[in-house]
Amino acid sequence: MNDLYGVIGDPIAHSMSPDMQNAAFDDAGLKAVYGRFRVSPAELPDAVKGIRALGLKGINVTVPHKTTVMPFLDELDPLAASIGAVNTIVNQEGKLIGYNTDGEGYVEGLKKVIKGDIASKEVLIIGAGGAAKAIYYTLASLGLRRIDITNRTERKALDLMEACPIAIESNYCTLQEAEETLIRYDVVIQTTSIGMFPDIGASPLMAGRVKAGAVFSDIIYNPLQTTFLRKAQYNGAVIQNGLEMFVYQGALAFEKWTGITPNTELMKKVVLKQLGG
Ligand code: ATR
Repeated sequence: MNDLYGVIGDPIAHSMSPDMQNAAFDDAGLKAVYGRFRVSPAELPDAVKGIRALGLKGINVTVPHKTTVMPFLDELDPLAASIGAVNTIVNQEGKLIGYNTDGEGYVEGLKKVIKGDIASKEVLIIGAGGAAKAIYYTLASLGLRRIDITNRTERKALDLMEACPIAIESNYCTLQEAEETLIRYDVVIQTTSIGMFPDIGASPLMAGRVKAGAVFSDIIYNPLQTTFLRKAQYNGAVIQNGLEMFVYQGALAFEKWTGITPNTELMKKVVLKQLGG
């Protein structure tokens, strides 16, 4: 019999996870099927009961359930607990364990484009939402020297920094200040939804003066090149879009479910095809 997996969220119709994960299962020679399940907030408790009752082996969790699903699980990985969000559930013989692979997935991708030791880099994160938190806490756990945050709402950035379980040097600056001091950063990570389809002309800040060899990355993958990245590349930055983060968060979930490292090149190809790239 096939093992069953899936993703829960609302909306879910356009999720690229089923095609990506099914291709990875096939490639690994595993008998498994990964489906998509639209689950409204009111249905979430019953959906989690369903995971147990039907014996689904693994689940990805997306918007709007990443935080609200946590009380229904049996165990939380410490990183997921500190981030306050779960994107992956492992069903270990009836025990549901929650993980967050978003931050680690992001860092896996970042390592492909960064030269030298990641811990020595000066990093600026744009945004202070759930994705920013996952990336900040994961980078902090790698012993980075300094991570600054710029965000429209100062309080949200400060709350994120203060709640981080790992002490790290960190300053808040306004979006305007960030524009002026951009040249000091080795890595600039755009985590807001600004510039996402259909509002593709928008950018949280102007990537004007760029440090030589700096990496600018955007977690958005639709479009593949945001206005933010286009300007940064024009000004000399090495750029990376959100495709890698999406692929690697899925690959890390796959590994937790199966113990097997999936074919990430194939997964990337499947996603690119869906995006029409
Ligand atoms: P996610 O969990 O996906 O990261 P989120 O929690 O809604 O999403 O966070 C969205 C981020 O984008 C926040 O940093 C938000 O800024 P605020 O903290 O000021 O709300 C930022 N953001 C979204 N739309 C924005 C806009 N039009 N201008 C500036 N920042 C924006």
